[in-house]
Amino acid sequence: MQRIGILTGGGDAPGLNAVIRAAVKTAINQFNCEVFGIRNGYDGFIEENGILRLGLESVRGILPRGGTILGAANRGNPYARKVIRSGKEVTIDVSDEIVKGIKRLKLDALLVLGGDGTLRIAHELYQKGVPVIGVPKTIDNDIGGTDITFGFDTALSIATAEAHHRVMVLELMGRDAGFIALHSGVAGGADVILIPEIPFKYEAVAARVRGRVEHGTLFSIIAVSEGAKPAGGAQVFSRGGDEVYVPRLGGVGQVVGEYLEKAGFETRVTVLGHLQRGGTPTAFDRWLATRYGAAAVRVAAEGRFDRMVALDSAKIIDIALADALAVPKRVEPDGDAVLTARGIGISFGDE
Ligand code: F6P
Repeated sequence: MQRIGILTGGGDAPGLNAVIRAAVKTAINQFNCEVFGIRNGYDGFIEENGILRLGLESVRGILPRGGTILGAANRGNPYARKVIRSGKEVTIDVSDEIVKGIKRLKLDALLVLGGDGTLRIAHELYQKGVPVIGVPKTIDNDIGGTDITFGFDTALSIATAEAHHRVMVLELMGRDAGFIALHSGVAGGADVILIPEIPFKYEAVAARVRGRVEHGTLFSIIAVSEGAKPAGGAQVFSRGGDEVYVPRLGGVGQVVGEYLEKAGFETRVTVLGHLQRGGTPTAFDRWLATRYGAAAVRVAAEGRFDRMVALDSAKIIDIALADALAVPKRVEPDGDAVLTARGIGISFGDE
């Protein structure tokens, strides 16, 4: 193995730079490789100045930095790229151009740091001959085959730091997985946690708040996952989607807050939003990201591709990308995390 490429795709997540740093250091120190950073996700292969030589000096000091030194194209899907042709916006497939760009660079391996969308593209590019290895990145923790993705722990620590006040509704990210709301809700002392995996009833949420007031406790914390939905109802979106953009979830916290206001409780709604994705990674995420980055290079050196590094019961392993992507990870409604929350008296708004 002589030449390795690294790219970061999708939205940013704390720990991306820590993975890049570990991969660059391992590739150079342990395997004497040349390393290339691809700017702005897959787009870097076809953009001017899209490739950056990465040396040890390029990664000095980046361990605690949020974001990614490589930039990331949030919707950088080579199979569906929006371009302007004859004054009109059209969607085209540039995957063959991307593959040509990768071949021109003579990469022996391409490390792809991304969530499900970016990793799915990596898996498809492998079918076109690109030697990919995935690293699971997302604050949502919704990738199959791994106990945890990097970025999740930092998102939790930010969410718990914010969770205080009167009747406080805190809307958290996570898409269709309730991990962020569940874990930060438990760690932040929430009284009610609403997640996509357990449909809720508005009246049950109000009843919990009312019960607390009747016992003299005037404050309640309600952690709401952006993907939570009422039983028999629908998720709340702030924007629709198309063939390039996925629909954007958002607004359920406000809806829950308005219901509680009407039920007579003074309520404040906070949407943490992208704050959860910024900032310096926690020590846990730096440790995990470093292990993932180094392991991805080792897997590359063994010439095993279309794989994803993963954490399995505290050990770093690698699994087939197809297996990681087959079933998205979700909170188990009867699993120990939910039982723990119920056991300490947290309501999921379902009874
Ligand atoms: O997947 C990470 C995530 O932060 C989700 O929790 C959230 O729904 C989504 O990305 C937001 O995407 P965007 O940055 O495009 O608004």
